[in-house]
Amino acid sequence: MDKKTVIPVFPQINVPKISEKGLPELIQDVQKRLNIQLTSYKQDYIKRRLLSRMNSTRSKDFVEYHQYLKTHPEEEEKLRNALTINVTKFHRDPDVFNLVGKEIFNTILHEKKTIKIWSAGCSSGEEPYTYAILLHELSKPGIILNGVITATDIDEEILKKAKAGVYDKNALENLSENQITRHFDKTPDGKFSVKPHIKNMVRFQSHDLMKGVPVARMFDVVSCRNVTIYFNEQQKKDLVKLVHDSLGKEGYYIMGMSEYMSKDVESLFKPYKPLLKIFKKI
Ligand SMILES: C[S@@+](CC[C@H](N)C(=O)[O-])C[C@H]1O[C@@H](n2cnc3c(N)ncnc32)[C@H](O)[C@@H]1O
Repeated sequence: MDKKTVIPVFPQINVPKISEKGLPELIQDVQKRLNIQLTSYKQDYIKRRLLSRMNSTRSKDFVEYHQYLKTHPEEEEKLRNALTINVTKFHRDPDVFNLVGKEIFNTILHEKKTIKIWSAGCSSGEEPYTYAILLHELSKPGIILNGVITATDIDEEILKKAKAGVYDKNALENLSENQITRHFDKTPDGKFSVKPHIKNMVRFQSHDLMKGVPVARMFDVVSCRNVTIYFNEQQKKDLVKLVHDSLGKEGYYIMGMSEYMSKDVESLFKPYKPLLKIFKKI
């Protein structure tokens, strides 16, 4: 990946000291322009993302960047990407997760006593925990669930949040009340903490998808969704090959709904549910 693009968008860097003049007005305007709610984000997170765009547009402070945003319509999309780089939620795209739970996991567990899933680019953990919840709901005596999901991300800060497994109510909006009660504990400050039976199913580790397959291979399912917005064409192709290498025979590859497989590499997979961007290894 092009370093110039990556460095500013990942949040390991500390927020540099800069005057906050104009910041509240900028945030308010950004919410209106992009029609996104930023109130549930940490202030530092928003500042880091804005700073990355300020760097790229050579704006020296929030006031100058606000002016740039107003006068350069193409900046809105770039800012949206910068702000939503870690965005995720439980049961994101319900049609995909319903199919995975009802059909794919069932098929695999019909043949084997366990399953191996890799959630690559897992962000704050909602995706791998969703798989864990779906699997737990299918579990029968004799099925092994401990540590069956490997969840990786390049962003060490976001992995801390994933490991903690504590979420605001709005992250759970696609889960049923029943699922929330069974799989989360309410914390004294009104948040929701993933219960140990779900946590124990997921192993988080730091991993850069540009650097090859992580420790294990022979996964039954690789879910690598909404990760490639900053990847160039070659990097997207390399990623498809890497997913292919990491899967076992007839393994499933789940992409993001707006992601696509380039013609050069599509012969590595056959469509399974192409409209939901689910493929099977050939
Ligand atoms: C938008 S989130 C997607 C989260 C989840 N997969 C989903 O679809 O809801 C994208 C995640 O990909 C991670 N990511 C981006 N480039 C990566 C790379 N080279 N290696 C590993 N993770 C990466 C980011 O840190 C971010 O957490």
